[in-house]
This record gives sequence, C-alpha cells and structure tokens, in this order.
Amino acid sequence: MAKHIFATKSVDNLIRESEGGEHGLKRTLTATNLTMLGVGAIIGAGIFVLTGTAAANAAGPAIVISFLIAGLGCLFAGLCYAEFASMIPIAGSAYTYGYATLGEFIAWIIGWDLILEYLFGAATVAVGWSGNFVSLLKSLGIHVPAAIASAPLAYNGSSFELTGALMNLPAIILILIMTALLVVGIQESAKLNNVIVIVKVAIVLLVIGFGFQYVNTANWEPFIPAKEILTDGSSRYGWQGVVAGAAIVFFSYIGFDAVSTAAQEAKNPQRDMPISMLVSLGICTLLYVLMSLVLTGLVPFKMLNVPDPVLVALEAAGPALKWLYFFTGVGAVAGLASVVLVMLMGQPRIFYAMSRDGLLPAIFGTVHPKYKTPYVPTILTGLVAAVVAGIFPIGLLGELVSIGTLLAFVIVCAGIIILRRTNPNIPRPFKTPLVPLVPALGILICGYMMVNLGFDTWLRLLVWMGIGVVIYFFYGRKHSKLRKQDTSPAEARELVS
Ligand code: ALA
Repeated sequence: MAKHIFATKSVDNLIRESEGGEHGLKRTLTATNLTMLGVGAIIGAGIFVLTGTAAANAAGPAIVISFLIAGLGCLFAGLCYAEFASMIPIAGSAYTYGYATLGEFIAWIIGWDLILEYLFGAATVAVGWSGNFVSLLKSLGIHVPAAIASAPLAYNGSSFELTGALMNLPAIILILIMTALLVVGIQESAKLNNVIVIVKVAIVLLVIGFGFQYVNTANWEPFIPAKEILTDGSSRYGWQGVVAGAAIVFFSYIGFDAVSTAAQEAKNPQRDMPISMLVSLGICTLLYVLMSLVLTGLVPFKMLNVPDPVLVALEAAGPALKWLYFFTGVGAVAGLASVVLVMLMGQPRIFYAMSRDGLLPAIFGTVHPKYKTPYVPTILTGLVAAVVAGIFPIGLLGELVSIGTLLAFVIVCAGIIILRRTNPNIPRPFKTPLVPLVPALGILICGYMMVNLGFDTWLRLLVWMGIGVVIYFFYGRKHSKLRKQDTSPAEARELVS
C-alpha cells in the first residue's frame, strides 16, 4: 500500500495528460492578466481590515516589520512556487507539484488543504465584503437590515448560537455573480479583475500619498512598544508581538499563489508564471509597508482596533482628507470583490486537476464545451462557498484560511529541495536561487507563523485534515488513475470490488 500512496507522477506524464485537446482549458491569459490576477487576489481584507487589529492587539507601529516578515516568508515560498510553476505549467498549483514530488497521498493532503485557502478564503472575504458594502450603502443613505446582511450563527468559543439574523445575503449574491462570470469565461473574468485592480490600487495610492502629508511621527514612538502581559495570561507588543502580528497579517499576502492555478490557461506559462507571481508579491509588499506606515502615523495605534481602520486613520487627519472617505469605502468593496473572484477561480482548477488524476469523481473535471471553463467544479465551489459565507461568522474562518495556506507553502518549499535531488535534470525555466537555503528559510518563517496561530486554529486544521484522510482512503486511493496504471488486473479487480 505504501508503495502506491507515495508513488509520484512524472512531470512528463503530468504535462502530457494536461493536453486534453478539445476538452482542455484555453490558453488566453497574458503576463499582465496574470499579474493583475495576483494583485487582485492579494489586496483585500488583510490591508483594509486586519492591519488595524494587528497593530492594536499585537505589534503597535512595528506592524510594519510584521508585514516585512510575512512578506519575506511569502517571497521565499513564492520563489519555490515560481520554479514549480515554470517546470509544471498546468492546473492544480501545489496539489500538482505535490504529486510530482511527494507522492499521491501528500498531493491529496495538499489538495484538500487548499480548499481552506480557496473555497473558505472566498467565503471569508465575501463576508468581509458584505460588511464593507453595507457600510458604503449606508453612507449613501441606503440601509440594509442586519437580519439579511449578517451571519445567523455566532461562535462563542465552544458552541454555535443563533443570532436571530436570517442570512448574509450580500455575501451570497456576490459569490453567485462571480461564479456566473467564471463559468462564462476566464478572459471575461480577467477583464473585470483588471478594472477592479486598477480602482483598488489607485485608491490605496491615494490614501498613501495624501495620508503621508498628515503623519505625526510622534505616533511611531516607541516603534516597538514594551511587552505587556494581559489579564488572560497572553501578551502583546515587544518582538513577540511583532511575530504574532506577522502571523495575523500573513492573510493579506494570501493569493499570489492563486496565479499558479491558472497555469493551464496562460499563453506563455514558463516565462509568465514566475514573473507575475513575484511581481504581484513585490508590488503588494511595497504598498502594505507604506500603507501601514501611514495608518500608524496618522493615529495612535491603539485607536486602530476597529473594522474600518483606514477610515479611522483618515478621520484623524481632520477635514482635509474627508473627500477620501467615500473612495476608501469603494476601495475596500472593490478590493475584496476581486479577492473573492480570484479565489473562486483557483478552487475549481485544483478540483479539475484532482479529478484528472482520479482522486475526485470525473464530474469535477467537466469543461464547458463552448466556454472552455471547468464549469461544473466552478458551480459546485460557488454553491458551497455561498452557503458557508451566508451562514458562518468571519472570525471563525480567517485563521483557518491562513494556517491552511501556510501549510501548503511549507510543503511546496520542501518539494523544491526534494525534486532537486530526485530529478535534477528536468528543464527548469525558472530556478529558485540558493537552494536549499531559500526553501529552508521559507519553511522556517512560514512554519514559525503557523506556530503563532492559536490552538483552536490548529485543532480545526487537524479535524479538517482528518476528514480529508478518511475521504482519501475511502475514495481517492481506490479510484486513483496512477494506481490503476500500476496495478495488475487481479489487484485492480480486488480494488474496485
Ligand atoms: N489576501 C487576501 C485578503 O487580504 C486574502 O483579503
């Protein structure tokens, strides 16, 4: 059995099988499209919402350093993703890379884990989007009743309670609209994403540019506030707070890897995948560092512990920046919408790859005859994400999305070290520099951020992974195409019986 579950698929085989003729995906995305998809997935709830709470509750003004630490972890992981994406330029992202290096079982584990990043990520950000959208409408005099714009379930730390609300309708509607667009075409989706990205980056630049003029440098003193022990025994600030802050703001970087899920629809994946992932990561790191400097410079950081920290910071500058309030709202709504779009794009492409390998039923690999999109998994993803976003509170999901993504990053970094040894001669159009140092540092920083996430989050991760392992042994292992190829007729009969 061990022989099968750790069997790897050769890179040549993976690429050959992906060339599905008329049932395959269509290569239409340019380097610009891909970079915009990266930025589209990255800038969202993290910078517009989490920065404030992370500064107030963990790092103080040194949240800027937290952003740099998280960014560095992502850079190292991103360099590893870039090597894989240029070497195996097909759908499936880390799942497919896992199949080529660590074997079927670990690949399944990564694929299952990526559901946390993409499907749950989309649902989480859709809930954040709903909150921002309702506030924006309110500023225009339109009131949406809380009963149809918030979660019917709340989590009190040990069990769920009913809140009296019916459902989070705006979140559900957003997911359904994005799903419909993704069914119609990857290019249509990329075009909408381009427009949204231009709007949100322009607004972030406006906040940075105008905000900097009103910064009071006294707010940055002390840059790393002294460590404080809270009544519940936990602590904040000091270097420990800076690292804890990195684990919180890591969420803001999630998404650059989503570019790699679209590898099979890229015109020139070998060249464009590494460029677009690393460029989008670089642009966003710069914007995050500048934005967090401005926010913590405009107000004393303790005031940022609110769901709309950008607005609170701008208000501190007085009436001069009042004109930016509305744009900030638009920026957040646009920003979070494109994150949802790209996350909902990534998930079906991973399902598509898993179904190609037989680990999920064939229906997950159905490509639309006219639109050439994986429309069945797209619709299934959209429906499940809509239900999750419509019912669950955002706090329960956010850290789970982060830990799931970090786990995938750690495995991808390890995969680079392994494949360099097991298969040194495969053509690698992009090579991660300084192997094994860079992947090892990626594992270290991402692993350390994982350690800094709460015990509850670890528990949820383990439960989720446990469910995945059960499904693999009951379904995936028996239907694996690789296993069937490797199995004698007698063994195969035994397997399907
Ligand atoms: N990076 C994405 C965001 O911050 C997930 O919303």
